[in-house]
Amino acid sequence: MIEVDVVILGAGAAGLFAAGECLLRGRRVVVLDHAAHPGEKIRISGGGRCNFTNRALTRQNAPERFLSGNPRFALSALSRFTPADFIARVDRAGIAWHEKHLGQLFCDGKAGQIIDMLLAPLRDGGLEPGVTIDTVEREGEGFLVHTSEGTVRAASVIVATGGKSIPKIGASGLGYRIAEGFGLKVTETRPALVPLTFSEQDLARTAPLSGIAVEATVSAGRTRFTEPVLFTHRGLSGPAILQISSYWREGDSLHVDLAPGRDIAGELAKMRGEAGRIALHNALARLLPEKLAQLVVADAGLSGRLADQNNDKLRALAARLHGWEIRPVGSEGYRTAEVTLGGVDTDELDARTMMAKRVPGLYFIGEVVDVTGWLGGYNFQWAWSSGWAAGQVA
Ligand code: FDA
Repeated sequence: MIEVDVVILGAGAAGLFAAGECLLRGRRVVVLDHAAHPGEKIRISGGGRCNFTNRALTRQNAPERFLSGNPRFALSALSRFTPADFIARVDRAGIAWHEKHLGQLFCDGKAGQIIDMLLAPLRDGGLEPGVTIDTVEREGEGFLVHTSEGTVRAASVIVATGGKSIPKIGASGLGYRIAEGFGLKVTETRPALVPLTFSEQDLARTAPLSGIAVEATVSAGRTRFTEPVLFTHRGLSGPAILQISSYWREGDSLHVDLAPGRDIAGELAKMRGEAGRIALHNALARLLPEKLAQLVVADAGLSGRLADQNNDKLRALAARLHGWEIRPVGSEGYRTAEVTLGGVDTDELDARTMMAKRVPGLYFIGEVVDVTGWLGGYNFQWAWSSGWAAGQVA
């Protein structure tokens, strides 16, 4: 039997970061993971360059940018370990980075640099990959963790097993089962930051657009995002769709403006004076991707030259572009979802320490908790901040 102060379940972003913090305090730590390699999601994140935080995050906008049963729960950890704090660690490790847009920070080089930084405190041991975790049980004031390699006894257990997204690289839902085993509530979970899929009928119309990306404003209820949308052979993807997927529910329609902030009817009317002889779809193709222009013109039941269209027709055409209503039938699911919405109910946890209020010594950090960020580095920041919070006390 191994005896340590802290056993951490999951060698992902949150677990590795918490391990480093516990080690700084002189705690004896072991990190267990069933995967052969630690931090696999970090490695594939941000197109291989890891969008490791977002510096547009503020105390004011955090409740909007992190979805949770209690939108204020994450504030404590996020404001005590901030994006600037993580950037300072990245700088200290000599990792070069750049800002893309909307505050998103990426490594200049490979995401593996972030994994190396997180693994540095564990270079003398403490990381145990390839271990199957069977059960976690209370023993006196501490815990026993039974695994494929034997039992670990520890005063504290930090559950950092992430969500259900991308089972192929290790996601398992174990953390939810551990929480429920201790009688803690877990909120409904569902795939988020995920492409949405269309019915056969809608796909038959949009399939020719597969591969085309346009800047669009996508709304579900009162929530809207203006970013690129990508047509796929299953439906829609791209940043605006991934973002709205966290808010969309089965049965809801999406409102899509395929030319946000533009006066398409006005632009066509102006073009009519100079180039009225060209076909309407070719005129629209000067403003939008060609295949999209063809589809919208055909859908509007219009044909002929631009000069043949009166202002009412141009306005009707533009209205279709600015107000496309589409009802996805589902999502691509956990196979491709970047994160899992829902998780261990925040009512069960102390926001300052991430410890279960009813089970002293048991902590939950990262994606396993019912805190889900927007696309753009928010989810890693939650992993660092919640890992830091538990790492100060466990
Ligand atoms: P994480 O999933 O990282 O780690 C959990 C660990 O627990 C894994 O190592 C897993 O093997 C282990 N585990 C699970 N079940 C186990 C079991 N039964 N036994 C033992 N071990 C077990 N976010 C962001 O902010 N910026 C970005 O650029 C991206 N990009 C991105 C791309 C892709 C393709 C995905 C899928 C996700 C992202 N994300 C992201 C989201 C981000 O990766 C995610 O929010 C964090 O990795 C969550 O960190 P955790 O440590 O909580 O879980």
